[in-house]
Amino acid sequence: MNTAVLKEIVGQVGILTINRPDAMNALNDDVMNGLTLGLDEFEQNDAIHCVIITGSEKVFAAGADIAAMRNYEYIDVYRDNFITRNWERLKTFRKPTIAAVSGYALGGGCEVAMMCDMVFAADNAKFSQPEVRIATLPGAGATQRLPRSVGKAVAMDLCFTGRMLTAAEALQFGLVSRVYPKAELMHETLEQAQAIAAYSLPVLMMMKESLNRAFETPLNEGLAFERKMLYATFALEDRKEGMNAFIEKRPANFNNR
Ligand code: CAA
Repeated sequence: MNTAVLKEIVGQVGILTINRPDAMNALNDDVMNGLTLGLDEFEQNDAIHCVIITGSEKVFAAGADIAAMRNYEYIDVYRDNFITRNWERLKTFRKPTIAAVSGYALGGGCEVAMMCDMVFAADNAKFSQPEVRIATLPGAGATQRLPRSVGKAVAMDLCFTGRMLTAAEALQFGLVSRVYPKAELMHETLEQAQAIAAYSLPVLMMMKESLNRAFETPLNEGLAFERKMLYATFALEDRKEGMNAFIEKRPANFNNR
């Protein structure tokens, strides 16, 4: 059994917890395969509307597993499709995801957090891309996602120096959207995830698809896509229910159709 990722379901929220306490939650194949399988399962489970990815209080993840990587040659990473083979499931996952980061989110850990739709941090969280110190690249997306998230100046600064950001700096730079006291991170994240999960899942999925277009298309194409998604909501029972509930001054009861 793969214990490197623990799986839990609370109401309509799926939680995946990275669990390699002896290695600072370093992201080896067990972890990345565990996350991939967990996401596959949560994607197929219609009862789950939102997913949280987290680690321990001390460490979200200290990056790719350096002990596993140290003896790799070029042919190993090229032939085995390192990273691409089992790090990218979050990229195609269609439901909302939240990274709940307490402690270190370093290297690949920060990159996994950035693959999530939102990042909530505990006040002890520390973010960095320290790969420069071991003479490799942040190769699980940070050279692309970090500039889109925090802008070129901060991204270059972080990658060239490997310095750590505090949770407060991460909030200031827009890498995270919320910071909570450490003891409250999971409770607050779960509460927010449940609130999101109570909305119409197809609407959340359309929103996610549309928001992600902002990073991949010129403005006019993105706007055209958004408009198609807007029109698509008019085919949903939930859209009628949402508007009717508003006019009738009652809570909406979405059936996710
Ligand atoms: N890979 C493998 N093992 C790791 C690890 C990693 N990324 N990070 C920590 N560990 C291991 C340590 O080797 C140590 O193992 P032993 O007990 O067997 O010696 C154990 O976890 C505890 O770590 P430390 O003794 O270093 O603990 P600390 O409290 O002094 O420091 C830390 C904690 C600041 C997180 C420090 O461990 C650290 O800097 N880790 C490495 C961070 C790093 O360089 N990450 C980038 C990896 S490369 C990457 O991610 C590339 C990519 O984009 C794909």
